[in-house]
Amino acid sequence: MQKQIWKAGNMVYPLPAVMVSTADTLGNDNILTVAWTGTICTNPAMVYISVRPERYSYHMLKESGEFVINLTTEKLARATDFCGVRSGRDIDKWKEMCLTRGKAQSLVYAPVIAESPVNIECKVTKVEELGSHHMFLAKVQAVQVSEEHMNPNGKFELNKTGLLAYSHGEYLRLGASIGTFGYSVRKKQVKKKRK
Ligand SMILES: Cc1cc2nc3c(=O)[nH]c(=O)nc-3n(C[C@H](O)[C@H](O)[C@H](O)COP(=O)(O)O)c2cc1C
Repeated sequence: MQKQIWKAGNMVYPLPAVMVSTADTLGNDNILTVAWTGTICTNPAMVYISVRPERYSYHMLKESGEFVINLTTEKLARATDFCGVRSGRDIDKWKEMCLTRGKAQSLVYAPVIAESPVNIECKVTKVEELGSHHMFLAKVQAVQVSEEHMNPNGKFELNKTGLLAYSHGEYLRLGASIGTFGYSVRKKQVKKKRK
C-alpha cells in the first residue's frame, strides 16, 4: 500500500464524541463535547478527558474534581455538536438543547444528562498538563444505564442505543456487527447433517 507522509498530528479515529457535564462549587453547571476521551484502566475503572484550559468548563473540572461522561447517540448528534461549538459562558446549553439534568448516583455533584443512555460518574485523581490540553485522569464512581435498553434477559443492549462515532471531523452511526470479542479464534460450530 503506497503511503503519503504527514507531519505529526492526531489521527486515532474513530472516537466517541461524548458530552461531559460538570459543575462548579457555586452550583453552576455546564456541558461540553469531548472527543479526546477514553478508558485507561479496568481495575480500578479509570477514564480520561483532555480539555483546553480556555474552555469555560475547565474551571469547573479543576475546582470540583468531578465530571460525568454522557455517551451520545444519533438522536443526540445535534446536541453533541452544539455543546462543542457554543460556550456555557454565553448560553445555557441544557435549555437550548432541551437536555434534562438527572441526579448522579454516587457522591458526584455534577448532573448527568438524562437523555443519554449511559452516564459515567467520575472523580478526578490527577491532572496532567500536557500542552494544548490538560488531561483529567479519573476514577469511575458509578455508571447509570437506561432501563429502556435492557432486553428481557436483563442484558443491556448498548449497541442498540444508536451510539455515535466521531471520525476525522464527521459524526457517523455505527454499522452492523461483524463479530464478537474473540470470534477470530473461536471454533466454528459444525452443523449436524440430517440423515
Ligand atoms: C466533536 C467535538 C469534539 C471536541 N473535543 C474536545 C476535546 O476533546 N477537548 C476540548 O477541550 N474541547 C473539545 N471540543 C471543543 C469544546 O467542546 C468547545 O470548545 C465547547 O464550546 C467548550 O464549551 P465551554 O466553553 O462551555 O466549556 C470538541 C468539540 C467538538 C464539536
